[in-house]
Amino acid sequence: MKSFYLTTAIDYVNGPPHLGHAYEKVLVDVIARFRRMRGDQVHFLIGTDEHGQKVQMSARKRGIPAQQYVDETAAEFRALYDRLNVSYDDFIRTTEERHQRVVREILQRLHDKGEIYRAEYHGFYSTRQEQFLLEKDRLPDGTWPEIYGEVTEIAEPNYFFKLRAYQDWLVGYLQAHEDFIFPRFRQKQVLEFLKEPLNDLCISRPRERLEWGIPLPFDEAFVTYVWFDALVNYVSGVWGEGAPRTEFWPADFHVIGKDILVPPHAVYWPIMLHAAGIELPKALLVHGWWLLKGGQKMSKSTGEVVNPLDLIDRFGVDAFRYFLIREMNVGQDSEYSFELFLSRYTSDLANDLGNLVNRALNMTGRYAGGVVPAAGVVEEPERELQALWNRTRDEAVQLCEGFQFHLALDRTFTFIKAINGYIEKRAPWKLGKSAAAADQALLRTSLATMAEALRLGVTLLAPVMPATTEKVYAALGHTPVPKWSDELQWSASLTGAKVQAGLVLFPRPEKAVGSK
Ligand code: ME8
Ligand code: MG
Repeated sequence: MKSFYLTTAIDYVNGPPHLGHAYEKVLVDVIARFRRMRGDQVHFLIGTDEHGQKVQMSARKRGIPAQQYVDETAAEFRALYDRLNVSYDDFIRTTEERHQRVVREILQRLHDKGEIYRAEYHGFYSTRQEQFLLEKDRLPDGTWPEIYGEVTEIAEPNYFFKLRAYQDWLVGYLQAHEDFIFPRFRQKQVLEFLKEPLNDLCISRPRERLEWGIPLPFDEAFVTYVWFDALVNYVSGVWGEGAPRTEFWPADFHVIGKDILVPPHAVYWPIMLHAAGIELPKALLVHGWWLLKGGQKMSKSTGEVVNPLDLIDRFGVDAFRYFLIREMNVGQDSEYSFELFLSRYTSDLANDLGNLVNRALNMTGRYAGGVVPAAGVVEEPERELQALWNRTRDEAVQLCEGFQFHLALDRTFTFIKAINGYIEKRAPWKLGKSAAAADQALLRTSLATMAEALRLGVTLLAPVMPATTEKVYAALGHTPVPKWSDELQWSASLTGAKVQAGLVLFPRPEKAVGSK
């Protein structure tokens, strides 16, 4: 059976990870968990991009050998992703032998086929973007766009990959595969970019200028251009005998940020694969950027970054994951502010969900001795809540399939609020005071309904807040069944379950702040 193969961008290790890195890995983790729950065999690859000018410069600044520098920084990235509960199956580092070997194998293959030639390069280089630039990339006033940072002029012999020869093929491919890039407007941007003639791609740097890279197999005086090296991770991570293994390849989705679509992922990568005789990935999923207030860019190079660890320490991993996925419409940009984070935390997590969980457990303890009773009578309020559940589940699952996770969460929280509304309506604390048999039956029904609805609500949250789902399951005395779709059915599976006395999932922000 072929795995559903998901990848993220591999991060540059020239500084500590920030909110943007964390977001991308959490986003793909949500997709991976969702697919696994739907029954797919998932293979999820993440990693670090460790060669190039930028990394070499950062290592020199610290005065330590490049290898030591990347070992330390890559460990920092990996620790963050472990902390974030990112369920990756494999972590690839471009300095690993298994990767370098495949880069050299592909380069040699392209060289043997005559796709690579040597010539004099004259142009400019942006270290921040690790990109070769030309005169035409300047702004009308002669300066370089801000995204490139400092730009240096270079004139040196180099090796080139015959990109231009494949331009028409690529345009045809994109026209024939309208779903290659999600969201669709990005595919249009690529086609727009391809209206201008492509230049062949410079794929080397002389070793005397840049030593931190993979030597070209056919000329060891040069190292491989970092993008040519990095893109290959998607296949080197699943390499078999001279080709990526068919139980993984083609990848189902490469998930990347909008800044690295054109040209690396939408132009270089498809052409590299095609020229090397390797099938293309099925699709690219392009997410937007987290910006600071007022649309300001967050970047490692300028130092204005949000450190995910600060938020995780104060509010917990799941609150952080929830915020990222709830606030970002995949494909669009989103603004980050601490006020926004706090307001989501307080209203959705502490008030709506946290309160509900704690109340439900308390009431079951007080009115039913801590054991979920069987539902007896079922009346309009119960029927309404069940009907809302069925709609919520169907819509949310469909929204997740289309990567509209923010809307799926919105629907789920509407349901969670409806459980709170149901409790207000039934008022178990009033029923509990009455000895009448009808009231006692209704009390049992309301406690059972509340517990079941809660179980269902947190089942839907599992891809985004896996630890929270587990905690609530445990508090409800619930052991999930293997199939998620079964778990999403309204049932009587909690009848007789022994529940915990209470559970505070999301402490009030005052306390969370105070505990720091
Ligand atoms: O580009 N918001 O690495 P990188 C959202 N090594 N996403 C953001 C972001 C932000 N503010 N800032 C960065 C590289 N990202 C290359 C990739 S892949 C073969 C090589 C995203 O560390 C960015 O869009 O600069 C990219 O997808 C990822 O973080 C890594 O960025
Ligand atoms: Mg970047």
